Amino acid sequence: MAWSPDKTEVKSWNEWDTLRHVIVGRADDCHIPPEEPALDAKVPEDSDMRGQWGRRPQETIDRANELLDNFADQLRKRGVRVDRPVSIDHSQPVTTPDFHTDSQFGCMPPRDVLLTVGHEMLEATMSYRCRWFEYLNYRPLLKQYWEEDPRFRHEAAPKPRLTDADYHPDYLSEKIGDAQRLEWAAEKFFVTTEEEPLFDAADVLRFGKDLVVQHGFTTNLKGIEWLRRHFPDHRVHTVNFPGDPYPIHIDATFTPLRPGLIVNNPQRRLPEEQRGMFEKNGWEIVDAAQPAHNTPPPLCYSSTWLSMNVLVLDPKTVCVEKSEVYQAEQMDKLGMEVVEVELRDAYAFGGGLHCCTADVYRDGDCEDYFP
Ligand code: NVA
Repeated sequence: MAWSPDKTEVKSWNEWDTLRHVIVGRADDCHIPPEEPALDAKVPEDSDMRGQWGRRPQETIDRANELLDNFADQLRKRGVRVDRPVSIDHSQPVTTPDFHTDSQFGCMPPRDVLLTVGHEMLEATMSYRCRWFEYLNYRPLLKQYWEEDPRFRHEAAPKPRLTDADYHPDYLSEKIGDAQRLEWAAEKFFVTTEEEPLFDAADVLRFGKDLVVQHGFTTNLKGIEWLRRHFPDHRVHTVNFPGDPYPIHIDATFTPLRPGLIVNNPQRRLPEEQRGMFEKNGWEIVDAAQPAHNTPPPLCYSSTWLSMNVLVLDPKTVCVEKSEVYQAEQMDKLGMEVVEVELRDAYAFGGGLHCCTADVYRDGDCEDYFP
């Protein structure tokens, strides 16, 4: 049955079918959290964020909210239903029997926490202590979907304990250096141990019957095995991108645009031995265009490769950040209509256009693209 804006339905099987309903995050009350093992390992060693924590400056929150509101309006004008989360108080400390952190993170970005697979939205375990309660920002929406859509499955992965046993102490030194980090990444030695299943939703890409999951800092092998057992009707593939010294979240590294076409970060190419399923099925993996910027904006966790963190609206249309002119030009050459969206001043809040959204409904069914 065709999608109707008057009826809530959760369904999304891939990253590219026509988007009808989406969640766009909010910058309200976002914090730079205090030091903790998983987060420290991820903050680049030359970053202006090292050693800082506390509520983000109000003017940056206001500016990010302005951009996120505008993005939501742009999507609405194109007929997409847009929902917004309700921010919890992220200044509250979190204490569990196993750990304490003095503040939380924020209501951004939803893609990290919520994984939509078919009629299900799954709350990820997360791997940072400061993000342990982040799902609460989305509970009012998920409650509403559950009440309005009788097929909706609201699931939550087991909450991890996040004791020190979850983190390799080798990553906790102040200065490691990119050479050492790259060596460790090549050996698949990441900050998270295999103590218990850990995954962030943003390490997962949906290709219909296949789920492609990045093994790195935020998702361990047990997390991937947990996903495999949780989605028994799917094939779950583990991928690595050894050129990335800070491997978290797959969506500035590997970006499917439509069936048969993926854009891959040229500094983080998918290794030959992991390309088999794509090559056998005639998928093309092309190098992404260079980012337009040499550095990320201030107080930003992410790399300049947010340039390729695009939101596909349908197999012919893609939202690209307005200043990312090279990425937009490449999309155009690849036959995509480009929708420009201004978002760079919100990057610091957790990412780009793909990060700051979470799918609720896309047209289409669960296809097998790799038979
Ligand atoms: N690892 C990523 C995260 C972006 C979503 C980066 O390039 O910063």
